[in-house]
Amino acid sequence: MSFLDKHKILERNATLLLAGSLVVVSIGGIVEIAPLFYLENTIEKVEGMRPYSPLELAGRNIYVREGCYVCHSQMIRPFRDEVERYGHYSLAAESMYDHPFQWGSKRTGPDLARVGGRYSNEWHVQHLIEPRSVVPESIMPGYSFLARATLDMDDPAAHLDANVRVGVPYTNAMIENARADLLAQADPDADWSGLEERYPKAVLGDFDGDPERLTEMDALVAYLQMLGTLVDFSTFEPQENYR
Ligand code: HEC
Repeated sequence: MSFLDKHKILERNATLLLAGSLVVVSIGGIVEIAPLFYLENTIEKVEGMRPYSPLELAGRNIYVREGCYVCHSQMIRPFRDEVERYGHYSLAAESMYDHPFQWGSKRTGPDLARVGGRYSNEWHVQHLIEPRSVVPESIMPGYSFLARATLDMDDPAAHLDANVRVGVPYTNAMIENARADLLAQADPDADWSGLEERYPKAVLGDFDGDPERLTEMDALVAYLQMLGTLVDFSTFEPQENYR
C-alpha cells in the first residue's frame, strides 16, 4: 500500500480525519503556549518607569481625544533603520501604564515613542499651532485651539483612581496630591519638591508661553516632552530571553 493510499483511508473517514486534525493542531498549540509558562514574566523589568503625572495624563487624554494615534505610532520596532532614526526599540514595560496603549498602526507622521526632549517646548507649541511654520512641507493639521482651551480636568484624583483600578500603581499620596500636582507642574512659581519626588524626571515649568493659564496645550506638551525619557538606556541590559 503506497503512502497516498494510506492517506486515502484518513481522508475518507470523517471521524478519523477530525481526530487526526485535533492531534496535529494541539501539538502546534502546545509548542506555542507551553514556553510562556516557563517565562517568569512577559514584561521585562526596567528601571525608571513610573505612572504619568496628572498633567501628563491630562495631555495623554487630549492626545487620544484628538486622534493623534491615527497618524503617529508609539512603538519603535527592533530594526536597524528604526533604531537609527528613533532611538532604542520600544520595550513592553514602556507602555505598561498605558490604558489604552498608543502603539498605533499607521505612520503618516514619525513615531513619537521617544520624541521627549528632542525639541523645545516653544517648538512644540509653534508646531502644534501651525505645523507649516516650522516644517514647511508638513501635512499635519494645526491644533491652535489647544492654546486657547483652558484645561478641563475636573477631578484629577478620579482619573488616577480609574487607572488604579486597571492596575496602575498610583499611591495614596499621588491621589491625594493629584490636583495640586496638576496645577504645580506648569506653574513656574510653584514648589516642585513633592511633585519631583512622586514623578521623577517630570518636565517642569510653563509649556505654552502663558504661565497665567493652564491650557490644553500645556498638558499635551508636558506629555510629549516625557515620551520615551523615563528609561535610562545607558544602564539597560536586555534579559537573556529577549536578546
Ligand atoms: C493627518 C496626520 C497627522 C495627525 C492627525 C497628527 N500628525 Fe503629527 N505629524 C504628521 C506629519 C506628516 C508629521 C511630519 C511633519 C511635521 O513635522 O510636521 C508630524 C509631526 C509631528 C511631530 C514632530 C515629530 C518629529 O519627530 O519630528 C509631533 C511632535 C507631532 N506630529 C505631534 C502630533 C500630535 C500631538 C498630534 C495630535 C494633536 C498630531 N501630531 C496629529 C501628521 C499628523
